[in-house]
This record gives sequence, structure tokens and C-alpha cells, in this order.
Amino acid sequence: MKLKTVVITGCTRGLGRAMIPVFIDAGWQVAGCGRDEPRIAKLRQQIAPPHFFEVCDVSREADVASFCAAVLKRFGPPDLVLNNAAIMNAPAPLWEIGAGDFSRIIDINIKGTASMMRHLLPAMLERGSGVIVNFSSGWGRSTSSGVAPYCATKYAIEGLSMAAARDTGGKVSIIPMNPGIIDTDMLRSCFGGEAAHYPDAADWARRAVPFFIQLGRKDNGRPLTVPG
Ligand SMILES: NC(=O)c1ccc[n+]([C@@H]2O[C@H](COP(=O)([O-])OP(=O)(O)OC[C@H]3O[C@@H](n4cnc5c(N)ncnc54)[C@H](OP(=O)(O)O)[C@@H]3O)[C@@H](O)[C@H]2O)c1
Repeated sequence: MKLKTVVITGCTRGLGRAMIPVFIDAGWQVAGCGRDEPRIAKLRQQIAPPHFFEVCDVSREADVASFCAAVLKRFGPPDLVLNNAAIMNAPAPLWEIGAGDFSRIIDINIKGTASMMRHLLPAMLERGSGVIVNFSSGWGRSTSSGVAPYCATKYAIEGLSMAAARDTGGKVSIIPMNPGIIDTDMLRSCFGGEAAHYPDAADWARRAVPFFIQLGRKDNGRPLTVPG
């Protein structure tokens, strides 16, 4: 039987990295990307083919085109795409955040997600099935001070996903997903030592992966949260 394929952006650290072994244990083949070349090289050493890891910055159109073409050639249309790659702004009031930093977070968190969908959706729609999960946040549904750029991107992920879900009509399901609050590099960058009070990424992945695997047509366009 053909193995199911999951694409994970941002698989070098944090939630993306933690999901890899759980998908493999569940019998899936994994295609993952990140920007960090040594970490991608290490993943290739640790995890043999058919699993596939490539350097790709999701904010670079040419990287995304090349990564997605390689995924489609090796595996065909993926069954599940997890648009997990994102960055957080250094916490500060909006007016103290430079235009370059603001553009960078928009380019990665919003445009990177849209770009992945643009390159993978046509093949998935042609086959007529599949699920795309776009990582949102609690800060995609409520706000705090110091994180306006990040909030802007995660509110955008909610709208982008719900509107694109109307475009597919459920042939491929598109779902904005709040993963919860998990102790990763990203959380430490805004919560500092307080981050240690939250579950680690491995615990989270054991809960999240079975939840992602059961998503389907019924969930198209529904903002969901990984169960706690
Ligand atoms: N942790 C939480 O509590 C929490 C809460 C709400 C939402 N989220 C969301 O969950 C997702 C994962 O967060 P995390 O906590 O695991 O963050 P993290 O620890 O900072 O990891 C982020 C991952 O994204 C990759 N990445 C960043 N920019 C990229 C780019 N331009 N192209 C490709 N990969 C890129 C990073 O790898 P490289 O450095 O190798 O590129 C890394 O593997 C994000 O969408 C985040 O917004 C997390």
C-alpha cells in the first residue's frame, strides 16, 4: 500500500521537528524543510529516505517552487501539508519595530504560507483530496501588547485559510490551526523562563499528530485548536 505523505515546513526545530518521529511511527513518509543547512544535513543523516529534507526558505518563491516540485516528483500530491514555519517579532510596541523587520515577518508567516499553497494545491485538487493545516496562534484570535506584527500575520492566516477553503469547496480542506502554548525557542523569545511552565514539543506532538491525521472534508475552513 502507498504510504501517506506529510509536508512539514519549519521542521528543523520546535513543533515541526517534534512531529517528524510521531508521523514516522504512524507509518507516514515525511517531506520537511527549513532554512538551517546544518540542521537539514543532520536530519538527512538521522532519518533515511523515503523521508526527504531540503533547505528551503518559505519566503523565497524560487525555494518554494523547487522544494514543492521535488516533493511532487518523489511522492505525488501530499495527503497532509502543515504550514508550520513562522517567526515571532522581538517584543516591542509597533512603532518601535522597523519596516524591514515588519516586512520579514509578513514575508515568512503570510506570504510563505500562501506560496506553499500556490505550489501544492493544483496537484492536490487534481487528485481531489488532501488537507492543508496553516499554523495560526492564540494571537491569531486575540491580542497582547508587544506582538502586533505577529498578531497581524496570524489573523491573516485565519482569513487566508477560511477564504481559500471557499475556493476549494472542500475538495482539499484548508484549516487554520491554533497549536496551543508549547515550550519552544519561539515561546522563550516572548515568555522567557516562564515558557518552561508549558508542555514541551515532544508531548505536544504526541497529541497533535493523531489530531491532524484524522482531519478531513468535515473540517474545511473551520478554525481549530489542538486539544489540550
Ligand atoms: N510555540 C508556541 O507556543 C506557539 C503558539 C502559537 C502558535 N505557534 C506557531 O506554531 C508554529 C511553530 O512554532 P515553534 O514554536 O515551533 O517555533 P520555533 O521553535 O521558532 O520553530 C520555527 C521553525 O520554523 C522554521 N522557519 C522559520 N522561518 C522559516 C522560513 N523562512 N522558511 C522555512 N522555515 C522557517 C525554523 O527553522 P529554520 O530556522 O531552520 O528556518 C524552525 O524550524 C509557528 O507557526 C508558530 O507561529 C507556536
